[in-house]
Amino acid sequence: MKEKIYSAKEFAKALGFSKNYLLKLEAEEKVPPARRQRRGKVNHRYYTVEDIIQCRQILGMPPLMEERHIQLFLNFKGGTGKSTISASYAYGIAELGIDVLAIDLDAQQHMTQCLGFETNTETPSIYDVLIEERDINQVIAHTPLATLDIIPSNLKLSVIENRLPNKDCREYLLTDALNKIKCKDYKVIVIDSLPNITMLNKNAILAADDLLVPVLPDFLSFHGLKLLVEELARMEKSFSLYANLRRGRLLDHIYVIINQYRPSLLMSRENKTALEKYYKEYLCKTIIPFNTKLAQSTAAGMPIFQYQRSSPAAKQIRALIDEILKLNETTKKGRRKMEDNP
Ligand SMILES: Nc1ncnc2c1ncn2[C@@H]1O[C@H](COP(=O)(O)OP(=O)(O)OP(=O)(O)O)[C@@H](O)[C@H]1O
Ligand SMILES: [Mg+2]
Repeated sequence: MKEKIYSAKEFAKALGFSKNYLLKLEAEEKVPPARRQRRGKVNHRYYTVEDIIQCRQILGMPPLMEERHIQLFLNFKGGTGKSTISASYAYGIAELGIDVLAIDLDAQQHMTQCLGFETNTETPSIYDVLIEERDINQVIAHTPLATLDIIPSNLKLSVIENRLPNKDCREYLLTDALNKIKCKDYKVIVIDSLPNITMLNKNAILAADDLLVPVLPDFLSFHGLKLLVEELARMEKSFSLYANLRRGRLLDHIYVIINQYRPSLLMSRENKTALEKYYKEYLCKTIIPFNTKLAQSTAAGMPIFQYQRSSPAAKQIRALIDEILKLNETTKKGRRKMEDNP
């Protein structure tokens, strides 16, 4: 992953302004001047994510998010886009200046790779925290985007299922670990999981506030979703005491996200209609289209926002972030407040 550099237009957009309004604020010295980078004969203006945070503070804009959200990408059906979407989703939120922690729970390391994060056999993972009892704050690694940190995966995670059953409070180890994070006040924790009913996934479900479930518009995904909903109902019963502590339910929200949608295919359209009929309460309005750019970004080890920001998949993942976190409303409120009190 490369360092993220914002153009004036992108920077203004992240703050909810027009470019002209940003330039006006700069001219009036209400915000610090842009950084400059010489390319050829021109001294181009540019900004970083730290500048977004600083500008928001200087201008007294409200924080984009007050409460912490722990969001787990899960589906018992494999290959539905959990790792690809979760990596870009985490990056897309961090790009707005929100502190995000991405956690890869899958020994296949796909989320880690999608974020272009290099690991070796020594790189610590959540295994070191849950099994070796290492301090979670020590296994958090930084990425070139200052607001995005990661607990990467490692092959060692593949044996975690043999070790977890011997632990006390084995289902709550991840919940406990996340409660011990002190190094930063992460507003969003995005977790990628493996497609199985495992002890590690139970840990993740119990730790999560929200479940994000990418599904393909095909029959098998539909069936996978049914299994997931049944398993959640079963868990809610078994862990009812814990669920009661959490406002009477295991999870705050379940978001089902149609991925790899191809409107030209009858099968895609039919399965979308079936999902709308049976899972209406969970279904996101945002649909991620089938888009080869997204598959290519995975192979290139880049979030889609770095690989091709203008691609249909990037636009829809941005829309998904807006739909789920409703950041647009806070940004609009902040902009109105700014423009009313110039
Ligand atoms: N919208 C899309 N358009 C095109 N290709 C996609 C799209 N979403 C995902 N893919 C591709 O589909 C494949 C599976 O995606 P991914 O690995 O993210 O799924 P997963 O649910 O994490 O799989 P697993 O269950 O094995 O962890 C990858 O090659 C990815 O690049
Ligand atoms: Mg995966």
